[in-house]
Amino acid sequence: MIVLVHLVLLALVSWAAAAAAAAAPTPGRVQTSLNEGWKFARFTNNPDSLSYNTLKPWILPLANPFIVTGTKYPSPSGSAPGANVQQVQSSFNDNTWQEVDLPHDWAIAGPFGAPGISGGMGRLPTNGIGWYRKTLVATADDVSGTKSIFLDVDGAMSYAAVWLNGNLVGGWPWGYASWRLDLTRHLRAGNNTLAIRLESAVENSRWYPGAGIYRNLWLVKVDKTHVGQWGTQITTPQVSASSATVNLAVQVENLGNATREVEVTTRIYPVNNGTTAEAVATVKAATISVPAGEKRSVNGSVAVANPRLWGPPPSQTPNLYLAVTTLTSGGTVLDTYTTRFGIRSITYSPSQGLLINSQRVYVQGTCNHHDQGAIGAAYNHRATQRQLEILRDMGTNALRTSHNPPAPELLELADEMGFIVLDEAFDCWSVGKTTNDYHLLYPEWHEADLRAFVRRDRNHASVIAWSIGNEVANQEAALPAREATELQNIVHAEDPTRQVTSAMNAAAPEHALPAAVDIIGLNYQGEYGNYAAFRQKFPNKMIWGSETASCISSRGTYYFPVHSGNNNRWNTAGSSDANARYISAYEMANPGWGNSPDAVFLAQERFQPWVAGEFVWTGFDYIGEPTPWGGNGGSRSSYFGIVDLAGFPKDRFYIYQARWRPDKPMVHLLPHWTWPERVGQVTPIHVFSGADEVEVWINGASQGRKKKPGNGIYRFRWDEVKYAAGEVVAVGYKGGKEWGRDVKKTAGTAAALAVTVDRAVIDGDGKDLAYVRVEVVDDKGIIAPRANNTVTFSVAGPGKLVATDNGDPTDMTAFPSSSRKAFSGLALAIVKTEKGAKGQFTVTARADGLKQGQVVITAA
Ligand SMILES: *[C@@H]1O[C@H](CO)[C@@H](O)[C@H](O)[C@H]1NC(C)=O
Ligand SMILES: *[C@@H]1O[C@H](CO)[C@@H](O)[C@H](O)[C@H]1NC(C)=O
Ligand SMILES: *[C@@H]1O[C@H](CO)[C@@H](O)[C@H](O)[C@H]1NC(C)=O
Ligand SMILES: *[C@@H]1O[C@H](CO)[C@@H](O)[C@H](O)[C@H]1NC(C)=O
Ligand SMILES: *[C@@H]1O[C@H](CO)[C@@H](O)[C@H](O)[C@H]1NC(C)=O
Repeated sequence: MIVLVHLVLLALVSWAAAAAAAAAPTPGRVQTSLNEGWKFARFTNNPDSLSYNTLKPWILPLANPFIVTGTKYPSPSGSAPGANVQQVQSSFNDNTWQEVDLPHDWAIAGPFGAPGISGGMGRLPTNGIGWYRKTLVATADDVSGTKSIFLDVDGAMSYAAVWLNGNLVGGWPWGYASWRLDLTRHLRAGNNTLAIRLESAVENSRWYPGAGIYRNLWLVKVDKTHVGQWGTQITTPQVSASSATVNLAVQVENLGNATREVEVTTRIYPVNNGTTAEAVATVKAATISVPAGEKRSVNGSVAVANPRLWGPPPSQTPNLYLAVTTLTSGGTVLDTYTTRFGIRSITYSPSQGLLINSQRVYVQGTCNHHDQGAIGAAYNHRATQRQLEILRDMGTNALRTSHNPPAPELLELADEMGFIVLDEAFDCWSVGKTTNDYHLLYPEWHEADLRAFVRRDRNHASVIAWSIGNEVANQEAALPAREATELQNIVHAEDPTRQVTSAMNAAAPEHALPAAVDIIGLNYQGEYGNYAAFRQKFPNKMIWGSETASCISSRGTYYFPVHSGNNNRWNTAGSSDANARYISAYEMANPGWGNSPDAVFLAQERFQPWVAGEFVWTGFDYIGEPTPWGGNGGSRSSYFGIVDLAGFPKDRFYIYQARWRPDKPMVHLLPHWTWPERVGQVTPIHVFSGADEVEVWINGASQGRKKKPGNGIYRFRWDEVKYAAGEVVAVGYKGGKEWGRDVKKTAGTAAALAVTVDRAVIDGDGKDLAYVRVEVVDDKGIIAPRANNTVTFSVAGPGKLVATDNGDPTDMTAFPSSSRKAFSGLALAIVKTEKGAKGQFTVTARADGLKQGQVVITAA
């Protein structure tokens, strides 16, 4: 028992540690990070004469464990290609290649304007062939014949192929997939040469896909008889306050050469705040006999009394449990495998929306792409956590992983923070949206990719539904409905507990596609009133807005005259400046298919309580898709975000907060109040708040107190007021009492840089990040809201500048640049340390003519 408790503590430490860190060893299984010490080179001309087509016969059989309904791929005869390629040879001299650690995104450093890469993809050099090489040291024990040695790749963009000591081991083409290779056969004691080739075409995505081995890489060493890849499946078919049933299936794989009898035991521990208690339940030991080269499953079921349920805050708590599965043979532990899960029930109600543990959870979601702004698509734990913290502060309780499988760690964070997740697989099926889209892989890979995706993610408490596709082509036709049926059947077979949707922007109720899927997921068209027609046609299906709004704006830019309605097109008078490529932050403009937040809220209200909620396009701005300026001479990053690319909230953030956090006293007024050229001109004041009433004063003169105009309306407006320099105050009231206030003051001449940091102490592991915010301020500390001074950052001490940004979609300065123009008065620097650094370092921001600012950060 003591041994077991100790073991669980180790496992918990591994959950708590940054995701990229080496997991703690558990008896029988050692998983270590393979992220460090790689050599890398990118080529725009093919340096090796290889291609996916020549490699494909050797790679396709890797899909076989994930093919059930389709035909498995035969192993090719003859010698595998690439053995003579110089990059895979141990003797190859890679001294001139770049030294990199993973996760790595080869394109993010830029420069912008990469040949052949569209604005839609972010104008960064994602295309080309990338080679990665690393020496892998194996011990005598690793190669003694009793162990399996696996390479686990969380994601490599894209068309990966892997050689060990000159032998092609396999690969996986889809860049969003997580996959495993068995290195055992070609591993030898001492130094081994691991070489990975990636290839990314131009026009292979509608957005910035990133490039390279952009997620974590792991080496797993375990007995030849072990829990298979993603080999546990935990479900909680019965949940109540007094008791829950936990069902567990464990798949044991025997890669040895003789039948093996193993005893399988699983103990279940509550995850309490990073400490652990005694096991609360044990799934009885079962003995199974697994023939050589085969897999066998053992199922068990156990009751957990008074379970601590998983559910989204603020009404519920995201409690988690850990299942620790032990395989033993003759008293020897062969493998220890941990599965984190939550005990909760999901109800998809056509009349009430989504229920978790029988409580209604109104979906307040955002859609997000996988890039993390200036650091690109390379997975970083802190960047992801910060993004989720900002979204949580806004009141978001749901995430849609648009439009592809996320890094596994995103789901770990969602489990811990209590986000509910619509986990999405594909952006297209057999018909692509770009020349080199996933449709090229779909015929041979969709079954394997989809099964692998569901097997990887199905134990996450946060995942509450699957999306098999986003806005697929020809939604009115029969083909996508047939494909949807096949895909949904695959998901149901791998996970009978969750419903499936497809995000539909064009299907109508009479089409076959909506009939084929469990949940009616409408992109935009719900806002136009179509929820009602779908409900009439499908009274037994839950309905939600799988993608809504598409409001576009650039932070802190305002244009006049302000539209009198609450919803307009970006190219109408007063909505944008097409020369500057900015869109008004009065937050009402959209590109034609979309709507303002206001219009979406009204549609949501109109169809309560049965519309389950919405997933806004998008939570954060992202690289690429700079609609409406995606063409030549256009912008680099999107305008859709509620939060800009640097992580600075736009005004829109507060209209969502008003709706989604009704109990948070909050009053937010716009625009800024520094308009020397507008003295005496009409300059509308809008206030976003959940208050019952709001009153506004300009320089002490009341502009009137207004009542909340109606249900679902959070915008109070004073459209006739004239600008005079000074001070605007907005006070919100609830029940007649002051509930919150906001003040905007006219700024004087920019005088200084005010510098702050999100966390003053960071881990000196070379991965943790501090986000340094610079405000251009006047001599009284008021932000100069239109300042665009060039800010230059420097770091003294054991810190290091990673990237800079400002949230300006038109800024073509490469992200690693130490100089960055402020945008609407703000700039951002992202810093970290060298690996293993300790002590204090100083980040200084300077700009010509302004007093410099600095912040001290401690690396612990
Ligand atoms: C089976 O594997 C063991 C090591 O696990 C090895 O010693 C033995 O030679 C193998 N037998 C055959 C027939 O390959
Ligand atoms: C093994 O690899 C390490 C690290 O790359 C290197 O320092 C060492 O010289 C190599 N040893 C042999 C025997 O090649
Ligand atoms: C064990 O559980 C898995 C997953 O739920 C299921 O597919 C399988 O049929 C079960 N096997 C047995 C023998 O009950
Ligand atoms: C978490 O731990 C803290 C102190 O370690 C304790 O005060 C708190 O009650 C714990 N919370 C839960 C939910 O166990
Ligand atoms: C900075 O702002 C000023 C005043 O709005 C404008 O005239 C100038 O063009 C801007 N400079 C740059 C580099 O954007």
